[in-house]
Amino acid sequence: MQTKSHWEQIYTSKPTTGVSWFQEHAVQSLQLIEKAAVSKDACIIDVGGGASTLVDDLLVHGYSNLTVLDLSQAALDAAQARMGEAGRRVQWRVGDITQTELAQQTYDIWHDRAVFHFLTEPAERDAYVRAVVRSVKPGGHVIVATFAPDGPDKCSGLPVVRYSPEGLHAEFGSAFKLLQQQSEEHHTPFGTVQKFIYCMCRLYANESG
Ligand SMILES: C[S@@+](CC[C@H](N)C(=O)[O-])C[C@H]1O[C@@H](n2cnc3c(N)ncnc32)[C@H](O)[C@@H]1O
Repeated sequence: MQTKSHWEQIYTSKPTTGVSWFQEHAVQSLQLIEKAAVSKDACIIDVGGGASTLVDDLLVHGYSNLTVLDLSQAALDAAQARMGEAGRRVQWRVGDITQTELAQQTYDIWHDRAVFHFLTEPAERDAYVRAVVRSVKPGGHVIVATFAPDGPDKCSGLPVVRYSPEGLHAEFGSAFKLLQQQSEEHHTPFGTVQKFIYCMCRLYANESG
């Protein structure tokens, strides 16, 4: 698969601290997860989590039921190498979120930073939203961050779709209530600034079987 080989190549050729999306701490993601006020044993998935440090910080904050899914095995290997023993407390899954069958009504929190924006085809976005509706529990929270309308038009050399909070919410549909929206100026390791938006929605009706 072309996209998978792209990401495997990125994660095998660069240090995880040297990619444009690197964050020492995923501060806004963590704050939104804390705002969702779920229990520490809530089921949380970081979709396209790559080698993000979010999972490290979630463990430190006491969350115990964590899954990281990513297209790239190399990204997940890098995260586990960084975490050592702590990484054994996380479920790691390699897969394309638009094609992976996740268990039904499983997750209390779905988190995605800088993955949905790569889905430039409506059919891919539909598949993603179907995966959310299927696998998030009714009443669960969905946190998605993408480049803002005045953010870059590419990420990792790939084209992206940029969103306003309203535009991103519209992609998910009326079963999702927009609870919080935030913006972020992300400072890359190269000293540039990338504008992101974050939306936190709640899934009220779970219509798929
Ligand atoms: C820009 S990086 C962001 C990584 C992480 N979320 C973060 O904020 O540090 C995008 C990540 O999404 C993964 N990815 C891209 N397309 C994907 C897909 N269709 N399914 C699952 N993961 C995907 C890539 O391998 C990469 O790790």
